[in-house]
Amino acid sequence: DNEEDLQPRAPIVTIMGHVDHGKTSLLDYIRNASVAKGEAGGITQHIGAYDVMTKSGKRVTFLDTPGHEAFTAMRARGAKITDIAIIVVAADDSVMPQTKEAINHAQAAGVPIVIALNKIDKPGANPDKVREELSAINVLVEEWGGKYQSQEVSAKTGLGIEDLLEKVLLEAELLDLKANPDRSAVGAVIEASLDKGRGYVTTILVQTGTMQVGDIVLAGPHFGRVKAMTDHRGKKMKKAGPATPVQVLGLTGAPQAGDKIQVMETEREARELATQRQQL
Ligand code: GTP
Ligand code: NA
Ligand code: MG
Repeated sequence: DNEEDLQPRAPIVTIMGHVDHGKTSLLDYIRNASVAKGEAGGITQHIGAYDVMTKSGKRVTFLDTPGHEAFTAMRARGAKITDIAIIVVAADDSVMPQTKEAINHAQAAGVPIVIALNKIDKPGANPDKVREELSAINVLVEEWGGKYQSQEVSAKTGLGIEDLLEKVLLEAELLDLKANPDRSAVGAVIEASLDKGRGYVTTILVQTGTMQVGDIVLAGPHFGRVKAMTDHRGKKMKKAGPATPVQVLGLTGAPQAGDKIQVMETEREARELATQRQQL
């Protein structure tokens, strides 16, 4: 892409951390509290990715792959789909083995980290102890002169979550994230399943370009024509631009998480490449 074709895009954020430290609760709170008014109320579809609008009017895309196994599996398949990692640590607990692993995975991927010190509402919360433990593994928070932004939050009461999102957005600004919306779409598969009524349902994240209903796509060893697209609230979409998660109907099979999905010129070309890949 030429520089002049690039436009700012939303950051893609993955939440990771130790078991029960509150990853899903944090995601749930963000989704409910930040979903733009009028769009709320719909029953959330099963989807591994969604985008929200912050109070400051900026869009953030979250990947609901809380386990770092999923993160690593996707990375192993060549998908570079996270811009920023939120590492959740329960403030009434400690830096645990999976906290360290999550930090290692994010660092290995070269992804900036924002620390969420969760469960701050609990009487036993001791965020300074956690900051101390983090510093012992070379993750020194900004308040202590380090480079890592951190935020005390409660996924239960919502305390600090807006500030956490603003810190994520600050990190995103530094990354100067851009993509070209005016080209044929390329993205990554988040998850795929077979639905009795609808056929193969593939959750994808469009990374560059704009996907449209009617496009012919190739995804791993499968192809198809995009019959319909819905957002994570089940709302129909005709187009999906960069950093947009969508569910796509119309593929001939279920590709794997991390597979690349791309728009092809002709169905013949898509079929040929899919067939070749199936024979590998
Ligand atoms: P896994 O997906 O199993 O690794 O867990 P998780 O990290 O997604 O944690 P989850 O959101 O399931 O939360 C674990 C427990 O902690 C649940 O009982 C939550 O209700 C509780 N919890 C999460 N966040 C908070 C919080 O900020 N305050 C309090 N008091 N409880 C919380
Ligand atoms: Na849990
Ligand atoms: Mg969870």
